[in-house]
Amino acid sequence: MTDVPVITVDGPSGSGKGTVSQQLAVSLGWHYLDSGAIYRALAYAAKQAGLKLNKDKEKIVSLALALKLVFKPTADGGADVLLAGTDISSSIRTEECGAMASKLAADGDIRAALLQRQRGFRQPPGLVADGRDMGTVVFPDATHKFFLTASAQIRAERRYKQLKDKGINDSIPRLFTVISKRDARDAGRTNSPMTPAADAIVLDTSEMSLEQVIGYVRQQVGYQSL
Ligand code: DC
Repeated sequence: MTDVPVITVDGPSGSGKGTVSQQLAVSLGWHYLDSGAIYRALAYAAKQAGLKLNKDKEKIVSLALALKLVFKPTADGGADVLLAGTDISSSIRTEECGAMASKLAADGDIRAALLQRQRGFRQPPGLVADGRDMGTVVFPDATHKFFLTASAQIRAERRYKQLKDKGINDSIPRLFTVISKRDARDAGRTNSPMTPAADAIVLDTSEMSLEQVIGYVRQQVGYQSL
């Protein structure tokens, strides 16, 4: 392990972990890892290649190891996701791609194939990493660990707005169903299930604004002045 500091922000989709992590990384001047985008990019690439988990597992593992994935930082602290030079940022944001990512992510060999790639983001001066197993498996020695939650209804509503902002139209009841299903799969799997690390701060953000969550996280981390 290195002595580069890491802050992990785990939780289910729509908990606010992505936005909170991005803004925290910007204010600290640290790197940002959206680990879910890696799983989504793999799902996208596997679909493009016509690969199916039930019959092409080994090929998907090879694809995961060789994935030509580049995160190109954007001004808002996020990143454009480039797969072999093609911008797939919007294509991977659909719930369909999220569900495919979640299915691939339940496989231990596929997760193992993506582990070093994620740890490679730990570069000076520091890293804010968001996902499901950042604090438990990928960066167990993180300096600060957070696990954000929110009710399924609130998360579906937030996701709806997020997708709408990205030009993707969906409905709240449909999102509620697919998100609940995805979360149950992510939390119920044997390999690196979505769960708070023993030393994580668990925060229910249902009744909190984004600003309040960011303020709380900054205070815990001790960077209030940023
Ligand atoms: O964070 P996200 O919604 O973009 O992630 C998409 C899927 O990828 C998620 O449902 C499960 C999987 N994932 C994972 O298993 N482990 C991570 N650290 C991040 C994402």
